[in-house]
Amino acid sequence: MTIGMTPKLLRKQKMKQLPKSILLTGTAVGVVTAVWQWRKQAQQKQPAAKPFNVQYGPWAIVTGAARAEGLGYGFARRLAGQRINLILVDILAEELHARAAELEQKFLVKVKPVVLDLGRPDFLPELLAHTAGLEIGLLVCNHMVTPKETPTILDMELATHHAMLDVNARAYTTLIHAYGRQMVAQRHGGIIIVSSQAGLHGTPYTGAYAANKAFQLILGESLWYELLGTNVDVLVLTPGLTRTQGNAMDKYPKIMLMEVEPVVDETLRNLGRKHLVIPGLVNKLFQFAATHLMTREQAIRTTGDLMAKGLGKTG
Ligand SMILES: NC(=O)c1ccc[n+]([C@@H]2O[C@H](COP(=O)([O-])OP(=O)(O)OC[C@H]3O[C@@H](n4cnc5c(N)ncnc54)[C@H](OP(=O)(O)O)[C@@H]3O)[C@@H](O)[C@H]2O)c1
Repeated sequence: MTIGMTPKLLRKQKMKQLPKSILLTGTAVGVVTAVWQWRKQAQQKQPAAKPFNVQYGPWAIVTGAARAEGLGYGFARRLAGQRINLILVDILAEELHARAAELEQKFLVKVKPVVLDLGRPDFLPELLAHTAGLEIGLLVCNHMVTPKETPTILDMELATHHAMLDVNARAYTTLIHAYGRQMVAQRHGGIIIVSSQAGLHGTPYTGAYAANKAFQLILGESLWYELLGTNVDVLVLTPGLTRTQGNAMDKYPKIMLMEVEPVVDETLRNLGRKHLVIPGLVNKLFQFAATHLMTREQAIRTTGDLMAKGLGKTG
């Protein structure tokens, strides 16, 4: 022992002599362990998850659910399978009534078809009248409109831009505001916002649609945070190419195309667990490349080239 030094002083002296890197590593390991233990304790304290139809039932609204091959009907089928009653909303009357009848017959749940133009600024009172007295546990905002000819931003008529904003942005806000408030008041529920990978960065040849989808994405992600602790779960889904439009997507690489069911299942599995679902491995890899291996400019250029090919804009 150095003369005149207590064991405590000696330990302090030795600590000072340790290389900084060892001290930093030790501190980091300590912090990570403490955070891990804190998270584990927090998870153990959480009450057991309620059955799906208790947390998100007894009624769900699904918009844009009329087409047999569409994502909306895919959600409706799975929810009916979970014994949740449905309010299906769409502008296509005949198809909507057919879907409602199919679901009622197959799953023995109640299904209300509501034929409504969600682009009308005054649609809400009509929908509220249909849902009066019903406990809405889940809202799936899925409807959308975009011109099939996919004009560029400046080639598209201004009236079309405005109509798209009404359907894809204004109606989403209206629905989420009305039913989100109801869910917070009743202390349970879920909101699924069907955005798109197109909303994650600039997407040429479908630029107006991509901008609408970015609106939905940011609204949903912000709402997810704001509703933490309310027992109302918010989830944004950003599908990539999904087989909902017959052979309209045949020019894209086949590997990028997903079927409806895996998209719906991955979404419902993660409701209450995540705030964002990028479905499927290929979409996840594409987004990883777009955000980690490319600059944002390169991601937009790559997407533009892919869209040009897929939509037959070249040659
Ligand atoms: N399929 C994909 O590759 C893909 C990729 C990424 C994201 N998404 C998103 O997934 C969702 C579902 O798309 P989908 O491919 O399954 O399309 P979809 O079957 O065409 O679903 C959209 C439905 O919304 C209806 N709709 C349009 N305007 C409306 C209005 N004003 N009021 C009420 N309903 C209206 C459509 O009717 P009309 O047919 O008469 O317009 C259609 O039935 C959309 O939000 C879409 O952006 C799809």
